This record gives sequence, structure tokens and C-alpha cells, in this order.
Amino acid sequence: MVKGPQVKEIPGPKAREIIEKHHKYMATTTNDPNEYFLVIERTEGNYWIDVDGNRVLDFSSGIGVLNAGLRNPRVVEALKEQLDKLIHGAGTDYYNPYQVALAEKLDSIAPGDFEKKTFLSNSGTEANEAALKIAKWSTQRKLFIAFIGAFHGRTHGTMSLTASKPVHRSRMFPTMPGVEHVPYPNPYRNPWHIDGYEEPDELVNRVIEYIEDYLFDHYVPPEEVAAFVAEPIQGEGGYVVPPKNFFKELKKVADKHGILIIDDEVQMGMGRTGKMFAIEHFGIAPDIISLAKALGGGVPIGATIFRKDLDFGIPGVHSNTYGGNALACVAALTVIEELEKGLIENAKKLEPLFKERLQEMYDKYEIIGDVRGLGLAWAIEFVKDRKTKEYASKERNQVVVEALKRGLATLGCGKSALRLIPPLTIDEEEAKIGLDILEDAIKAVVG
Ligand SMILES: Cc1ncc(COP(=O)(O)O)c(C=O)c1O
Repeated sequence: MVKGPQVKEIPGPKAREIIEKHHKYMATTTNDPNEYFLVIERTEGNYWIDVDGNRVLDFSSGIGVLNAGLRNPRVVEALKEQLDKLIHGAGTDYYNPYQVALAEKLDSIAPGDFEKKTFLSNSGTEANEAALKIAKWSTQRKLFIAFIGAFHGRTHGTMSLTASKPVHRSRMFPTMPGVEHVPYPNPYRNPWHIDGYEEPDELVNRVIEYIEDYLFDHYVPPEEVAAFVAEPIQGEGGYVVPPKNFFKELKKVADKHGILIIDDEVQMGMGRTGKMFAIEHFGIAPDIISLAKALGGGVPIGATIFRKDLDFGIPGVHSNTYGGNALACVAALTVIEELEKGLIENAKKLEPLFKERLQEMYDKYEIIGDVRGLGLAWAIEFVKDRKTKEYASKERNQVVVEALKRGLATLGCGKSALRLIPPLTIDEEEAKIGLDILEDAIKAVVG
């Protein structure tokens, strides 16, 4: 197969027509025709082919969904086979082997030397809703502590935890009561202006102190807190990697007060960071883990994996119709096999290439204020001035556009960061092609 993108014109005439119709008939969600004007028809390896025949290298993984490849051939094969057997088995009332096989597999791979159970759903939001309900049910406590910069979903429950952009909550108040937010240990930007790369322990101590001395000592009774809800690395908030010891320190606080830890792996799980679960970098076993996105390889699925003793135990407290659809379960089992068979290794192998090349760009371009990431989860943050760290959001958006016009699909995150999250199936040559295009796009913007 020929490597590299091939672009005639993006958006081409067919794309422009579809974008116009999209905005006529589809509800407004997040699409921005000025920035993300890619109209996808099909895939070819790690490339999107758009409706006008342009071939675009993917560094977005369909927003973190396609870790196992844009259309993994083994997933496709498994789905075709499954279509001839069973599509939907009404798993909330009848039983089927596909859900059981997936739950058993998740029990064996999720961190934690204890027995686990799984609730299956259809999305990240639903996986987190279930996590909240499991925590409330099992602890009989009603409060949650989440982190500023977090994204956990957009239903009323999960939106209450989400704190990455005001627009997510605009006109939606009151949100679910009982959620308090605290600063995430963001090494680059935090309320204390600590350089968290130089002083990681100091940063972690400040966050822990904030929880203990401000919340717990003044207005949040810790014995009424059901759970801390955290992303192991903040995704939508900007691909923010916390210091190594953060979760161990958080767990000490949690254990002291009988508080659970809900680990939202929806964006960072499934091999993205070079380990199956991102929390494995931080050395704790969460009580509850939510998964979605990359778990199904493109087929909608969510999973909430939790300590067995937290289970509802009474039929009917929580359930759904579609969760753990047979097609989705089979896709997920195949995705996990593919990740275990070599894709996680590939993410680890390519990590230094991304790290070095992005660091080189940092050294060359003043507009890059920070480079951060693990495995194949990378971000660069654009700033107007390295000292003031003023966000360069417009310039970030321009880089997205310039990259796409040159045949590379990327996505923004946070206020001025750009995430680089290729499918874990890319090879070194494709990684280099993508990073070259990124650099050309930055040059085009900074002149
Ligand atoms: C960490 C995290 N949690 C939850 C969600 C919500 O997932 P979904 O869009 O599948 O409902 C997202 C989506 O971006 C996410 O990144």
C-alpha cells in the first residue's frame, strides 16, 4: 500500500455539500465546519478516505475510539461471524455467553487483586453513570469529589462531574447536587503556579492539602463522600499527566475516610498510554473503573468494572436494554486480544519517537508552551508567551486546519492544546510522516 496522505482539496465539493446538509438536518453538537471539515467515507489502513477521494493520515483515532485500528480486520471478521449467530440477546433478562466472556476477561485484566464484576452499557457517559450509582448504592453516601478540568460525560449525572468547559453546563443548572471540584495536579498550570515537573511532590501535597484542609475541615463531611472520580490522565481537559505519586496519595486519603476511587479510563484506557489501563502507571487499583470508546473498536460499548462486594445484589436497581449487545461484546473481546497481541507494545515502542520529536518542536517554536504524554497519548499546548502562558487558542485551531489541509487529522483539547492520538496500529514511518506534517502546519501558522 502507498504510504502518506494524498490530498487534492479538503474540503472538496462533495464534502462541502454534505457539511451544509449536516448542519441543516442534524442537531448541533460539537461539529465545527471551520476546523474539522473532514467528511469520511471509508478507511484504508490508518488513513481516512474522504468523500472526494482525499487520503488523510489519522492522528485522532475517531476521538480515542479506534486504538485497535480504524477498521481492524480481525474485529470485522468477528463481527461478520457474529452477525450469523446473534445480534441482540436481551442480556438484561435472558443470558448469553458473549457478555459473560467479556466480563470474565475484564475481571482478569483490570488492576486489583480482588474479584470484580462488570456492568455493560453503550457509552462512556453511561459507564460513569453506573459508576456513580454503584458508589452511592454500596456506600450509602451521596457526595462526590471530582477534579477541575475533568470530562466524564454529558448526562445530568456525569455533567455534574465534568468541569473542562463552561459550555458543557451552560443553561443546564442545577446539576446533580453533592459534587465538589478540586484542582487536578496539573504540572503545567495549577492555582499555586508550581512547576509540577520540577516539584511533583510539592504539587501533589498541595492538592491533597486542599482536599483535607479546605474541603474536609470546612464544609464537606468526608464520611458522607462516596467516591473520588478522576481520569488517570485528563483527556478533554488537555491530556494532562499528573505526577507519578498522585494516585497513591489520593488513595491514602480515600482509605482513611472509606471513600471509593472511580477511575474513568474512557479515553486513556485500552492500551492508549502503553499499558492496558492508564492507572497502571500510577500504582493503585481503583474500586471502580469505567471504560468505553476504544473497548469496542468502533462498536458502541461501555463497561463499569467494580469490586465484587460493591454490587447492587438486588435485581432492578440498575439496568439497560442495549448494554453488552452481542456484537459489541464480540468486538470488545477481539479488540482486547489485538491489544494484548502487540498493539500495546507498539504504543510503548513509539513513545520515545513522539517524545523526542515533539521536544525538538518545543525547542524550535516558542508558541509551544508544553509537551506531555505517554505511550501514544500526546499533546502540545500552544501559548502566546511562555512566561505568562496566555492561551493561543486561535493559533491551535489554525494548526488543526493547516494539518488537515496537508492530510493529517488531529484534534484540539483543553483551551489551547492539540492532541496527537494515532491508532496504535501506526508504524514508525507513518508516525514520522504525521509528525512532519504537524511541524509544517506549525510553521505555516507561526510564519
Ligand atoms: C474521560 C471520558 N469520560 C467519559 C466520556 C464520555 O464518553 P461518551 O462520549 O462515550 O459518552 C469521555 C468522552 O470524551 C471521556 O473522554
